[in-house]
Amino acid sequence: MMLVSGPSSTKLGGKVAQILGVRNVSVEYKNFPDGESYLRLPEDVRGEDVVLIQTTYPQPDKRVLELLLLIDTLKDLGAKKVRAVVPYMAYARQDSRFREGEAISINTIFKLIEGAGADEFLTVDIHKEFSLKVLRIGAKNIRAAEAIADYLKSMELVEPYVLSPDRGALKIAQAIGERLGAEYGNFEKSRDRISGAITVKGEKVEAEGRDVVIADDLISTGGTIASASKIVKGEGARRVIAVCTHPLLVGEALVKMRQAGVDEVIGTDTIESEVSRITVAQLIARELSKS
Ligand code: R5P
Repeated sequence: MMLVSGPSSTKLGGKVAQILGVRNVSVEYKNFPDGESYLRLPEDVRGEDVVLIQTTYPQPDKRVLELLLLIDTLKDLGAKKVRAVVPYMAYARQDSRFREGEAISINTIFKLIEGAGADEFLTVDIHKEFSLKVLRIGAKNIRAAEAIADYLKSMELVEPYVLSPDRGALKIAQAIGERLGAEYGNFEKSRDRISGAITVKGEKVEAEGRDVVIADDLISTGGTIASASKIVKGEGARRVIAVCTHPLLVGEALVKMRQAGVDEVIGTDTIESEVSRITVAQLIARELSKS
């Protein structure tokens, strides 16, 4: 087995390769003056079982295209097998036709990944697991809750309550809560499909004097977490800790969350960001060593 780290996952790729004890090849890349990507594999991959790791943020369109170019190039250069590991899968939120005529973006991208020649697909906390059904190749979603909960254990939380801001993320809050031995629950979120405006509400959480962990699959603008934080801070939470698998942190997301009472924001390294304090390298390596 050899590992090929794409332009967006050089650090995480290096960690996974080190855990597995396999060769890590970094892709050579540059941008042409017009913005096009140039990619080159500097080593012979013929006959190899290749694990390609490439996340798709920041610049999701460019990262997805690089992923496709790399899969196809690896196969064209004679790799025996290509396992595509995409720690954060962009476009996964557009998994349905919410309004008539919309593109179901994740389906199109999965068809392209398969068409480019990937033999297997691995990702971490995809927005909804049912999206993977479009793929006819082996596909697996790794859950980061275990690594997140283990990190939270080291924080000596006071009577922690793990809350998901919507029903969709409840399984994340539940998995973290169970591993922490803490209570968990969820708020409800609705989104205006045209303006994108969200409303978060829910039953009263007994937050008085407690550390509330708000857990979600991803933080983009920070609006969802900020809305939930305002509610639990209003109910007397001692501290609010926002945790997520994918810290996209668009624009002023961190400022927005802090202004809403969030004391700490913690994410994993599926995306490299200033809050990526938890690594998913061990979880990815464990999954890869199963097959
Ligand atoms: C949506 O359902 C996701 O799980 C996140 O809650 C959402 O995408 C976060 O977006 P934002 O940070 O912009 O509120």
